[in-house]
Amino acid sequence: MRTVALLLTLLVAAVSARISCTVKPLGGGQDDGPNILAAFKRCAKEGRVTLDKYYVVDTLLLTTGLDDVEIEFTGTVQYTPNIAKWSPQSYFLTYQNATTFWFLSGNNIHLYGGGTLDANGQVWWDIFHNDPNAGTAGGSSRTFARPVPLTVGNASNVLIEDLTQIGSPFWNNFVYQSSNVTYRRINISSHSYSDSPAANSDGWDIYRSNLVTITNSTVDNDDGCVSFKPNSTNMLVSNMVCNGSHGISVGSLGQYAGTADIVENVTVHDVVMKIAQYGARIKVFGGNPSPSSTAGGGTGLAKNITFANIHVENVDTPMYINQCYSTDADVCAQFPSKLTISDVHYINITGTSSGAEGTVVADLECSSNCTDITATGTDLSSPKGNATYICKEITSIAQLDFDCTAPPS
Ligand SMILES: *[C@@H]1O[C@H](CO)[C@@H](O)[C@H](O)[C@H]1NC(C)=O
Ligand SMILES: *[C@@H]1O[C@H](CO)[C@@H](O)[C@H](O)[C@H]1NC(C)=O
Ligand SMILES: *[C@@H]1O[C@H](CO)[C@@H](O)[C@H](O)[C@H]1NC(C)=O
Ligand SMILES: *[C@@H]1O[C@H](CO)[C@@H](O)[C@H](O)[C@H]1NC(C)=O
Ligand SMILES: *[C@@H]1O[C@H](CO)[C@@H](O)[C@H](O)[C@H]1NC(C)=O
Ligand SMILES: *[C@@H]1O[C@H](CO)[C@@H](O)[C@H](O)[C@H]1NC(C)=O
Ligand SMILES: *[C@@H]1O[C@H](CO)[C@@H](O)[C@H](O)[C@H]1NC(C)=O
Ligand SMILES: *[C@@H]1O[C@H](CO)[C@@H](O)[C@H](O)[C@H]1NC(C)=O
Ligand SMILES: *[C@@H]1O[C@H](CO)[C@@H](O)[C@H](O)[C@H]1NC(C)=O
Ligand SMILES: *[C@@H]1O[C@H](CO)[C@@H](O)[C@H](O)[C@H]1NC(C)=O
Ligand SMILES: *[C@@H]1O[C@H](CO)[C@@H](O)[C@H](O)[C@H]1NC(C)=O
Ligand SMILES: *[C@@H]1O[C@H](CO)[C@@H](O)[C@H](O)[C@H]1NC(C)=O
Repeated sequence: MRTVALLLTLLVAAVSARISCTVKPLGGGQDDGPNILAAFKRCAKEGRVTLDKYYVVDTLLLTTGLDDVEIEFTGTVQYTPNIAKWSPQSYFLTYQNATTFWFLSGNNIHLYGGGTLDANGQVWWDIFHNDPNAGTAGGSSRTFARPVPLTVGNASNVLIEDLTQIGSPFWNNFVYQSSNVTYRRINISSHSYSDSPAANSDGWDIYRSNLVTITNSTVDNDDGCVSFKPNSTNMLVSNMVCNGSHGISVGSLGQYAGTADIVENVTVHDVVMKIAQYGARIKVFGGNPSPSSTAGGGTGLAKNITFANIHVENVDTPMYINQCYSTDADVCAQFPSKLTISDVHYINITGTSSGAEGTVVADLECSSNCTDITATGTDLSSPKGNATYICKEITSIAQLDFDCTAPPS
């Protein structure tokens, strides 16, 4: 007993021996970025960074090389809407020209506390919407970048919990080249109060990462709820409420000829999907004759994907596969996709579509045979009449619990 007590005492002592860095805000709208960076530098190893007040950030947060760091975030970080400054200084991430305000990197990082990240998105959405030269739709330019508020990049063993994110100019979260990243109880709201949509305001985008878990979170936005981009493996998304989104998506994949994209071992379960374009979606480019194509022709696979207990309310297309994504139908017929789709399981997809697609509630269209696609417990309806299900090039229609009809020609 005595030994146990002694060990516990030592343990408590060891835990409280963590170096602590509390950031004091400057106030008056001054940039707290340099002091936040200094705190991360000083507490980069076995440290605790405390952000418990309101901070204005006008400086890139490149917090790298962290090793066993706790981030006690109970306050608010607000990025300035300083487009001229952020566009060149935000950290460029290559994939889809994404850039970021904060690149969080290292090993064993725990962010917690119920804080708020406010990225002043409205200003960016309005300019993006009203100035056609502001930037490319897919991403950013160096004169008009729309940074991601929080990127977990080149990182491993990261836990982020109890965070509120509002007004993201672009994707809310990017998981980039990382492994074992867990998010729980994250509330995201990218809601525009003008005519400009909250463009590209995905909840999460995951790229070149393994073992990512997202649970017990809410997303209110105007683009993807969660998107599994190239090389997302062993993904778990559960207990989510998505509102206003484009659904939970695998892809888009296969965009670049000569590149293999792999999305494998994905489970998405217990999701309520409201007012969305799609529910469970897989999008893959068609083939392309050019070996240097940047619009299809890539190889790889989307394999072992399970969508279970997805309840839709007012969703245009609850179940969707497109293996000719962004590809001309004639080109796709001549050059079917070289990225295979297999082992996709729909379990208990229930609820009501919006009727925007008439009676269609599922549109599963492959260009080269998709194999082992199954559906059980499907219970979908359309406000426009008896639900219909479109299938094309699915080899396992006997394992779907609905009757398929061919796409209209
Ligand atoms: C990235 O930016 C360049 C230069 O602005 C542009 O040509 C390209 O289309 C952009 N790529 C994406 C994926 O948005
Ligand atoms: C992230 O890793 C890539 C190599 O995979 C490297 O090129 C890049 O500089 C790293 N970025 C940071 C900020 O560590
Ligand atoms: C994943 O990271 C968590 C810390 O967030 C750690 O407790 C767990 O052991 C890690 N899992 C693996 C498989 O490395
Ligand atoms: C997130 O939203 C849920 C449900 O609306 C709420 O119960 C929870 O407290 C919120 N979490 C945070 C961190 O604000
Ligand atoms: C997530 O929510 C479920 C159902 O409400 C609950 O049972 C579970 O404990 C929660 N998990 C976390 C990590 O908050
Ligand atoms: C859901 O989205 C609709 C349409 O964008 C919006 O009017 C509503 O306020 C959102 N509800 C929540 C709870 O975010
Ligand atoms: C995905 O992983 C495969 C296998 O490791 C690799 O060949 C390919 O280049 C990766 N693709 C991307 C987009 O990183
Ligand atoms: C499919 O992926 C799930 C995780 O999403 C994993 O538990 C399961 O073992 C995988 N199945 C196969 C056959 O690889
Ligand atoms: C998918 O899961 C199976 C079963 O756990 C595992 O054998 C396989 O390596 C996983 N695939 C990837 C790409 O991690
Ligand atoms: C599907 O729904 C049935 C009936 O509600 C339930 O018994 C079953 O556990 C569900 N399946 C999964 C994988 O949750
Ligand atoms: C799909 O399978 C059918 C039947 O096995 C076959 O006739 C057809 O050529 C295949 N299509 C492609 C694009 O591989
Ligand atoms: C809907 O299906 C029912 C039962 O199969 C059938 O009696 C009815 O005529 C159908 N309604 C329409 C509008 O097709």
